[in-house]
Amino acid sequence: MRNVTFTGVKFENPFLLSSAPPTESESNIMRAFDAGWGGVVVKTIGLHPVVNVHGARTKFFRTTPDDNNVSMKKRAGAALHGSWNWELISDKSLDWWVPRIRRMKEAHPTKVVIASIMAGSGSDKELRAWQTLTQGCQDAGADGIECNFSCPHMDRKDMGSNIGKDEGLCSVVTEAVKEVAKIPVWTKLTPATQDIVVEAAACFRGGADAIVSSNTFPSLPIIDPETLEFEINVDGFVSSGGLGGPAILPLSLANMARMCQAFPDRAFSAIGGVSDFSQAASYFLLGAGTVQVCTAAMLDQAIGPNVIKRLNAGLDAFLEKHGFNSIEDFRGARRDRVVLQSQIRRPAGDAYQGGYEPVEGYAAPDSPVLSS
Ligand SMILES: Cc1cc2nc3c(=O)[nH]c(=O)nc-3n(C[C@H](O)[C@H](O)[C@H](O)COP(=O)(O)O)c2cc1C
Repeated sequence: MRNVTFTGVKFENPFLLSSAPPTESESNIMRAFDAGWGGVVVKTIGLHPVVNVHGARTKFFRTTPDDNNVSMKKRAGAALHGSWNWELISDKSLDWWVPRIRRMKEAHPTKVVIASIMAGSGSDKELRAWQTLTQGCQDAGADGIECNFSCPHMDRKDMGSNIGKDEGLCSVVTEAVKEVAKIPVWTKLTPATQDIVVEAAACFRGGADAIVSSNTFPSLPIIDPETLEFEINVDGFVSSGGLGGPAILPLSLANMARMCQAFPDRAFSAIGGVSDFSQAASYFLLGAGTVQVCTAAMLDQAIGPNVIKRLNAGLDAFLEKHGFNSIEDFRGARRDRVVLQSQIRRPAGDAYQGGYEPVEGYAAPDSPVLSS
């Protein structure tokens, strides 16, 4: 069976659209529910006015098989490498979102709507803003709150990923939200930190019901060697943006593994580079209970109707193949397979060739020395 209960909320299936363009409007979310997504995390809502940069907010890196060139330029035969964005949170107000959340839940009572919210953390007024946002979304019928401690584009030192890089702020803001929340509170952390386990612990101390990881990784577009301009820029300027999609899958898996090992009994919602069940399976096997998707859905009719079909069909086939009944039968089954390097077996005695086995990327052991 596909259904899961995660932080006390019942999901028809464990797959959600993450907070991003696929969930920026009521019509997108209604279409997503019709397409089969178990839930959505609404595009992050704040109380501050939001004005995005001029021009494109997201572009996609693609790579060519012959030379592994990564570029935003469209080329025939190139495969997706990642998304790059510098989009801010929703430019719609809380008042705009409240009746829409209510209507979504009325139309789809069995689907899950999580409200992503964001405010600052530098004053009591900002902490009250988190509470206002929580109360507004919860009264509208949201099933849960996701605190955005991870937006990588904020200049303000007390906002976005700057909260997620500071364990004190993670705890204080989570506590403020928990003070008024009657529904589960998830916190979405940034990967741009030295040890995400530290911030996860701080969120749990503040009362978080689940940790969500990952948001996008800080990154830059490449500079076109012909024009000498960044491939995405405004008047020649660029700022650090966020990398998502296939490129971040192994990075996000590593963070998920560390958190699931540190807190094996806690709830985790995984994000990063998922486009079909094979990637989602890795996150479940490490211990995550739900999986969220952004980039793959953006590139599939903006809300991922084919992506969710593949995820559901892949889950069914996986359960059948391995004789499992539900996600709980295999969740975390590979959590303890990530160990210290020193615990990995070395070849015994004669079998050891000093690391010169013929493998991809290394010269053959008997390669001649080239003289210049
Ligand atoms: C254009 C764009 C806008 C995004 N906006 C938000 C946002 O408002 N709030 C948030 O928590 N994450 C936001 N994200 C991050 C995604 O929800 C997700 O964490 C990230 O893209 C990694 O998932 P993926 O590899 O499936 O793309 C955004 C991502 C993109 C590409």
